[in-house]
Amino acid sequence: MASSEPVRVMVTGAAGQIGYALVPMIARGILLGADQPVILHMLDIEPAAEALNGVRMELVDSAFPLLKGVVATTNVEEACKGVQVAIMVGGFPRKEGMERKDVMTKNVSIYKAQASALEKFADKDCKVVVVANPANTNALILKEFAPKFPAKNITCLTRLDHNRALGQIAERTGAAVSDVKNAIIWGNHSSSQYPDVNHAVVNVDGKEVPVRELVKDDAWLDGEFVKTVQQRGAAIIKARKFSSALSAASSVCDHVRNWVKGTPEGTWVSMGVLSDGSYGAPKDVIYSFPVTCKSGEWTIVQGLKIDDASQKLLDITGQELVDEKKLAYECLKE
Ligand code: NAD
Ligand code: LMR
Repeated sequence: MASSEPVRVMVTGAAGQIGYALVPMIARGILLGADQPVILHMLDIEPAAEALNGVRMELVDSAFPLLKGVVATTNVEEACKGVQVAIMVGGFPRKEGMERKDVMTKNVSIYKAQASALEKFADKDCKVVVVANPANTNALILKEFAPKFPAKNITCLTRLDHNRALGQIAERTGAAVSDVKNAIIWGNHSSSQYPDVNHAVVNVDGKEVPVRELVKDDAWLDGEFVKTVQQRGAAIIKARKFSSALSAASSVCDHVRNWVKGTPEGTWVSMGVLSDGSYGAPKDVIYSFPVTCKSGEWTIVQGLKIDDASQKLLDITGQELVDEKKLAYECLKE
């Protein structure tokens, strides 16, 4: 995708919190690289049209050298035209006391409606990442209602959870977060997700040390650590009264940049992708797996040893995705 031609990047819900943090990151080259010009397509709904225009004005005022154009619109077809990356943030965020599936009714119908516009108007190789919750199930609905679109091009964001796991290990061990790698988020971007550090390592003086060996506290790794990562979204909502925005925006950039430009040798990241049944995950749901990326394609990391306790947790989060899928179809019938 890297070229001197600008890449068209769509952000839906661009007038919202994540949108406001994300669009300057894209315009600064954090999404696709510091030498990749971009044209931003920003979509929001009519009640947010004025705020969206405010964001457009601020982009103009920032004079970002890489930003070659801005489309700010409330027309989904116009927004999707020719886009090569689609970041689907538009929707209703969770409030304090709600589970992510509580926003299901409102959000899945948006994803059904936007699927056909993407299929018809976006570039045929467009890479899609769904951020709005319930992210995995919205991505699944998008895939199912855009059947001509390659399923491998539709993903959801669990990189924020992955980064949260790296951050917790860094805080606990005192390592730089850039020295921690290969955590895994399995399953749903919800409190049932399983943040797994059984294969994670920390670079200590040039040597990769397993996290379990370094932390020396299995009770913490299997207990408080898992809970903290699973509940981090709720903790941010409690503290800020709004859901995470800058960390979500930054993680979107990590997700897309690794997908397009590849993952470093020996490193994997977590992405919600269409399940092929690897590791006993249910098929035909968007499930978060460890993946490596090369030449713009993701591949699920195979052959990792999963102990019995972990397998149970993989199954629980998989079952939640099966239940969410059923619920989503019920919502769409109403
Ligand atoms: P927000 O309410 O600040 O912004 C959402 C924007 O979407 C609003 O401007 C709204 O007008 C717009 N919108 C609503 N319906 C739309 C539609 N049909 N088309 C286009 N735009 C539409 O919310 P936010 O804090 O930016 O969060 C956005 C979503 O991302 C929420 O669903 C939130 O729960 C989710 N989220 C996911 C992750 C993740 O890791 N996957 C992390 C943080 C937040
Ligand atoms: C997050 O993980 O921060 C988001 O999904 C927001 C939420 O509802 O938790």
